Amino acid sequence: MRNSIGVFDSGVGGLTVAKAIKKLLPRENILYFGDSIHLPYGNKSEKSILEYSLSNANFLFKKGAKLIVVACNTSSAIALSDLQKKFPIPVLGVIHPGALAAIQSSASGNIAVIGTYRTISSHIYQKEIKQLKNNAKVIEKSCPLFVPIIESGFGEKTIIELIIKNYLSQLSHEVDTLVLGCTHYPLIKSTIKKLFPHLTLVDSALETSKQVFATLVKNKQLNKNESSGNIKIVTNDLNEVFEKISYKLFPKQKIQSIHSFS
Ligand code: DGL
Repeated sequence: MRNSIGVFDSGVGGLTVAKAIKKLLPRENILYFGDSIHLPYGNKSEKSILEYSLSNANFLFKKGAKLIVVACNTSSAIALSDLQKKFPIPVLGVIHPGALAAIQSSASGNIAVIGTYRTISSHIYQKEIKQLKNNAKVIEKSCPLFVPIIESGFGEKTIIELIIKNYLSQLSHEVDTLVLGCTHYPLIKSTIKKLFPHLTLVDSALETSKQVFATLVKNKQLNKNESSGNIKIVTNDLNEVFEKISYKLFPKQKIQSIHSFS
């Protein structure tokens, strides 16, 4: 019996998406997998990203997922269509929802997107945004230091402010909306907002959760139980930072550590 929403990312970042799903769909069971051993995905080859994404999705499918959310922009950019072909259940990515959120919140149509090297060099946000609004002006910028810094536990230290300023100062004058095109970036959202208060920051989490809801309704797979669903968090490299960030988002939630998919 398939009875959970499977969610994966390279590390803790995708928990920001899992949190939004939990909020909108409290009765659903969620199984989260963080592939921390292979983190960061953002500067890996397409071949490796595809391989990791396939095995993550396979793990969630085998554990009984009825729908899979690729809560990683890098995997969504590189592997989403392959995953959609391979699995007989809906597989949703986070790029289209992020592009939609950007269009909805930008008054000027001047939008900046930040993400990992691999996401930005795919230009997928640019394509998706322009498909939704062809006269939008899209500036893309990769910020390869953000994920390693967040995953090293320095996301709340002053060093991140210097790096944010370095990456974003120039483009901040040219746009009204900034898309956080990596699911780790909502974890430093308040610092970005503090430094650039005039920018509207958008991420994919809320819009993705709405698409999960719509897909489950369409497939008549919504969990009708009265009681709330559970969340299970699994990673293949349980370290202190993973624990700390995940407790922040899901207080007291036990985290399971696994060493192989078998
Ligand atoms: N959180 C992921 C993303 O949305 C991956 C970051 C990484 O592992 O480099 O792109």
